[in-house]
Amino acid sequence: MRLSSLLALAFASVGLAETPPGFVHQVPGRLDVIYGTNVVDPPGERFTKQQTATMPTYGTSDVPLNGTYLIMMIDIDLPANFGGLPAGQRGIVLHGLFRDVKYNGRQSSTGSYILAPGTGTQPSSYFGPSPPAENPPHPHNYIELLFDQPANFAVPASEQQVVNARLPFNYTRFVAAAALQPPIRANYFTVQG
Ligand SMILES: *[C@@H]1O[C@H](CO)[C@@H](O)[C@H](O)[C@H]1NC(C)=O
Ligand SMILES: *[C@@H]1O[C@H](CO)[C@@H](O)[C@H](O)[C@H]1NC(C)=O
Repeated sequence: MRLSSLLALAFASVGLAETPPGFVHQVPGRLDVIYGTNVVDPPGERFTKQQTATMPTYGTSDVPLNGTYLIMMIDIDLPANFGGLPAGQRGIVLHGLFRDVKYNGRQSSTGSYILAPGTGTQPSSYFGPSPPAENPPHPHNYIELLFDQPANFAVPASEQQVVNARLPFNYTRFVAAAALQPPIRANYFTVQG
């Protein structure tokens, strides 16, 4: 098979997933995530801690969105010994949860319709990736998720402590407790310690 065909096949098998393989929610639409002038594209692109130290700009490229949203960023590769988990398992760290996110009427220099949090970065501020070095090296997957924000959204009392502590975060439990519908947009990148 020609190299170009092989490459085409490799890309086809990766598909257009906006979340990592095996993640509980496969999401149909792309959330633009822009660190400085670096757009996360394709999903899964490798970045450094330095490149991702400060909060990205979020947006959409196809159409401006007209709703009110919640953006969540999670690391799904917390090593077992950091999360108090059984050996071999990996846990989740909450890296940010931003409420009242709306299209702010502007476009980024990279052409995205900007989605900006309403009132600072509540209820959980941006916490940049800092994966520990591991042997063998293990790139961490950082997933960015855009949810429709339910009317009168509040962090459920049962989730407040882990939102403050950031880990061990339980994504499926949080989504259920907060009565969120599956995310409508997503993206992810990787950082290796
Ligand atoms: C949001 O509103 C604008 C202007 O009315 C429209 O062009 C755009 O398609 C809308 N976006 C969505 C996702 O409905
Ligand atoms: C997350 O929460 C769900 C629902 O409460 C539970 O079934 C699951 O075991 C939890 N996952 C972890 C890794 O604790």
